[in-house]
Amino acid sequence: MKNHIDTILVQSGNRTDAVTGAISPAIQLSTAYEHKGIGQSTGFDYSRTGNPTRAILEDTLAKLEEGQRALAFSSGMAAIQAVLNLFSTGDELIVSQDLYGGSYRLFLQFEKQYGIKFHFIDIRDESRVMEKLNGRTKAIFLETPTNPLMNEISISSVSSIAKEYKLLLIVDNTFYTPILQKPITAGADIVVHSATKYLGGHNDVLAGAVIVKSEELGEKLFIIQNSIGAVLSPFDSWLLLRGMKTLSLRMARHEENARDISEYLVNHDCVTDVLYTGKGGMLSFRISREEWVGPFLQKLKVITFAESLGGVESFITYPATQTHSDIPETERNRLGICNRLLRFSVGIEHVDDIIRDLENVFNQLKGEVLING
Ligand SMILES: Cc1ncc(COP(=O)(O)O)c(C=O)c1O
Repeated sequence: MKNHIDTILVQSGNRTDAVTGAISPAIQLSTAYEHKGIGQSTGFDYSRTGNPTRAILEDTLAKLEEGQRALAFSSGMAAIQAVLNLFSTGDELIVSQDLYGGSYRLFLQFEKQYGIKFHFIDIRDESRVMEKLNGRTKAIFLETPTNPLMNEISISSVSSIAKEYKLLLIVDNTFYTPILQKPITAGADIVVHSATKYLGGHNDVLAGAVIVKSEELGEKLFIIQNSIGAVLSPFDSWLLLRGMKTLSLRMARHEENARDISEYLVNHDCVTDVLYTGKGGMLSFRISREEWVGPFLQKLKVITFAESLGGVESFITYPATQTHSDIPETERNRLGICNRLLRFSVGIEHVDDIIRDLENVFNQLKGEVLING
């Protein structure tokens, strides 16, 4: 029987060094490895191609997502770029319209430079997907839940279409992580992560991952990774492994806190909408007045106004000027990413302290309205 995901996470790296018995694997900084003779290799020759610390991380990532193989990259964007390198001029992809702004920017760049077409649509609507399908369509790329609007997309429903039309299904699993969702078991071919977020969990490592369902895809992506070279360094591989050990504990606490905070915000008169799926630690909300956004972000004392997510510390991000600033304003407004929308990565602090922080700031903003009219 397979171990539970919590056990796989905690045990990662243990029993990998038969010589010393080290529990925490060594950070193998060597870029080159001795050959005992021509054609003789320990399995490691040159660090871009393979590194022992990165290999432990990649094995762990493959197990977590139940894929055949995983590859670790120097950032989430490097991982997504490697996946896009599977496609050629004339190919078309159907992609979520509501996704990380950096992915949106990269897709537009590939469209301009390499003539790969991206159709940005609401993938929840099957008829829209069918409308965009044609003989040149090669893949569907989605984020679920979407970023920052927190809409869930059924991976298994989309995977039926992908299978029928022989398309690759690529899922960015950064927000839910394999603790809450395993895209490959739901029918995806490729999973990508910004491991900078929940997998790392401590805002101290920039990393990306690709996990694939088949050896064939693994080999193609390995050739791309090795050729381009945006691999994760040994130290960052070790940091990520160390961070991941507590992923399941952290996700449980993120979710517990997010549920309480969502309830608090739903009932607050300074907030018009709360977007939360009920799962995980990410939620978005619209503050009632646009002019409050700046002072709200400045007055927070526990929560930090910063542009990332998934770490132990609570962060609030302003998509309009940060993560989604590359999306034109009219398009943002059409999607609902308006200038009152804030994205909240709920941390694992004591929930009472987070709520008190919000309450203090809302009270100050309301007080200022009373004084200034
Ligand atoms: C959902 C999602 N995918 C990909 C990325 C890009 O990852 P990175 O910043 O590690 O390059 C991000 C970054 O915010 C993200 O939120």
